[in-house]
Amino acid sequence: MARSFHWREAPDCTFAVIGEPIEHSRSPQMHQAAYNRHGLNYSYAAIQAGPSELDDALNHLVELGCRGANITVPNKLAARNWVQQNGSLTGKELGAFPRAGVNTVNLKTKQGISTDEPGFMATLPQIGICAPCRTLLLGAGGAAQALLLELKSQGWDVSVWNRTPSKWTDFLDEHSLESELLSEPDPEGFDLVINSTSTGLTGVSLGIDWSKAKSGVVAYDLAYTDGLTQFMQEAEDHGVRAVDGRRMLVEQGALSFEWWLGIPAPREDMLAAVK
Ligand code: ATR
Repeated sequence: MARSFHWREAPDCTFAVIGEPIEHSRSPQMHQAAYNRHGLNYSYAAIQAGPSELDDALNHLVELGCRGANITVPNKLAARNWVQQNGSLTGKELGAFPRAGVNTVNLKTKQGISTDEPGFMATLPQIGICAPCRTLLLGAGGAAQALLLELKSQGWDVSVWNRTPSKWTDFLDEHSLESELLSEPDPEGFDLVINSTSTGLTGVSLGIDWSKAKSGVVAYDLAYTDGLTQFMQEAEDHGVRAVDGRRMLVEQGALSFEWWLGIPAPREDMLAAVK
C-alpha cells in the first residue's frame, strides 16, 4: 500500500488523489503502473483532506505544480464547487445533473469532469453485460444517484432501494424520473444487482435473500476490499456470480489518465496493479 500524506505535507507530485480516509487507496499503485508502461517519470501521491479543507488542499497542490487530481469520497461535491469557482466543468452529465460530483480535476486549466459514470458503463461488457437489462440499484448516495441518471438516460429499466426510502422519492421527484422503489432489497427478477451502499466496506449484511434471484443474475459491488465484500460473499454462497469495484476503479482511473495526458491508458497493467 502506498504512503499517504496530510495535504499540508503533500510532496511534489505530478498527480494525486484526495480523499478521507485515503490510506486504503490503490490509485497510486494503479497510476504508477500506467506511468511505468509509458516510461513516464511521473509520481502520484495519496493526499488526505476532507470537504472543508478541499479548497486549501487543491490550491496547495496547484502551488506545488501538481498537474491533476482524482477526487474521492467524501469530496466530489466540494471538488465540483472548486471547479465552478475557479474554472469550468466539462462533460454532459455534469451539465445535466446539478448535484453530480467531480472526480477528476486538471489543476493547470482548473477544469473538472466525472469519469465515474462512463467508467462504470465501460465495465459492463467486461462482466458479460452487453445490453440494457433489468437492474436493481441498492443505496441512494451520490454514486447511486449519478448511476441512476446515466442508466436511465441510456434506456435501462432500473428499480431502486435504499434503507432510507425518502432519499429516492425526493430524488425521483426532483428529476421527474420514474423508477420502481422497492421496500426490500429483493433480487427476484433482476439480471443485475448493484450495491452502492457503504456496507461493501463496513461488512454489514443487507440481508438479501439470494435464493429468490433468477439464474444468471450478476451481483456487482461498487466497493472492493482485500477479499470478498459481505454482499459478494452472500451472493456467492448462493451460487450467484459476484464482481467487485476493481474494474470500475481501473476504468475511471484510465479515463482520468487519458483526459490528462491524451495517450491510451494501459488498462491491463492498471488492473494487475490493483489485484
Ligand atoms: P456515496 O459515497 O455514494 O455518496 P453515501 O452518501 O456515503 O454514498 O451513502 C451511503 C449509502 O449506503 C446510503 O444509501 C446509505 O443508506 P441511508 O441513505 O439509509 O443512510 C447506505 N448504507 C450505509 N450503511 C447501511 C446499512 N447498514 N444498511 C443499508 N444501507 C446502508
